[in-house]
Amino acid sequence: MTERPTERVDTTRLQHMARAFTETAVLWAALDLSLFTHVAGGADTTEAVAAACGIRRLNADRLVTCALALDLLRKDTEGRLVNSPESERFLVEGTPSYAGAWMRFTRPDAPGWMQLTELLRRPEEPRRLGMYGDLTVEAARAYHEATYSVGMGAGRRFCRQVDLSGRRMLLDLGGGSGAYSINAVQSFPGLRATVLDLPAVVVVTREFCTQHGVADLVDTIGGDFTADPFPSCDAVVMASNLPIYDEVNIALVVRKAFDALDPGGEMHLVGEMLDDDGRGPVDAAMWGMQEILYNSGGKAHTRGQVRGYFTAAGFVDVTEHDFIPGVLVRTTGRKPV
Ligand SMILES: C[S@@+](CC[C@H](N)C(=O)[O-])C[C@H]1O[C@@H](n2cnc3c(N)ncnc32)[C@H](O)[C@@H]1O
Repeated sequence: MTERPTERVDTTRLQHMARAFTETAVLWAALDLSLFTHVAGGADTTEAVAAACGIRRLNADRLVTCALALDLLRKDTEGRLVNSPESERFLVEGTPSYAGAWMRFTRPDAPGWMQLTELLRRPEEPRRLGMYGDLTVEAARAYHEATYSVGMGAGRRFCRQVDLSGRRMLLDLGGGSGAYSINAVQSFPGLRATVLDLPAVVVVTREFCTQHGVADLVDTIGGDFTADPFPSCDAVVMASNLPIYDEVNIALVVRKAFDALDPGGEMHLVGEMLDDDGRGPVDAAMWGMQEILYNSGGKAHTRGQVRGYFTAAGFVDVTEHDFIPGVLVRTTGRKPV
């Protein structure tokens, strides 16, 4: 009889998981109180933090202690408080790389997550468009203030990874703020782009394009990419939409993109994807779960499933790249000539 190796276990990891929400709460409170902005501005002791944030010294002590433990703050060689490199780069208000809006993006969902058991028991049929079915321009503006704060970095990264020189028209499916299209038309002379997003969203897309001086190079179409026709193009990008839809709808959209592309054209789908063994990353699994809050049909997809949507549509040379390692994967394919 073979002996099964025994895995030594304790409760440490489970305890951390049971209290992980406390880290989220500290991050949001620190952002609300502009902790990192005050530290960048010279509040380098607990007393100075208390004064700058307008909170009691005891509470400043608690906040600073947690921020140090979470490596959001550090101490320099003289014991003065400083921001960690991440906080300095992304959490100081008024800087171009400030990403506070994105860090708070899922905050309105927190009460819903605390009702997860009830939501999992919900018997109703999911709605195809989930939260997007009744989006107003105001809601779209707030939503894309957040996506823009990280999307521009992603758009720049896309243009470093993907050479679109010689292409004429990039179709940006669910392009939101237009972050990918804005970067693409600025990076590749002669390229135009069309953002196809919901009618309320493209109002906001146009605002961002105007702000970046590319309104004449980026067109918008207000529509539903699962239902409305696509314009002719020779490149397609679909970024950060994957867990919003189920297998049938993603396969449908990839197929429609294939049909809209010129022969020789290329498609790139950037999204959170599960590894093929389905064992993570956690983030990809959680974005799929997030959709339960909106009662959409969305779910997490594996890398293999996404490759399957491409090959079933007719794409060749289907390959995968770690777009942001551990976070986003880019699957790409070419329409045969
Ligand atoms: C997370 S945002 C990503 C925006 C942008 N691609 C980026 O990466 O910055 C998802 C976008 O998909 C759009 N979207 C979702 N369902 C859609 C549909 N059926 N038709 C068109 N756009 C859709 C949303 O309105 C939203 O702008």
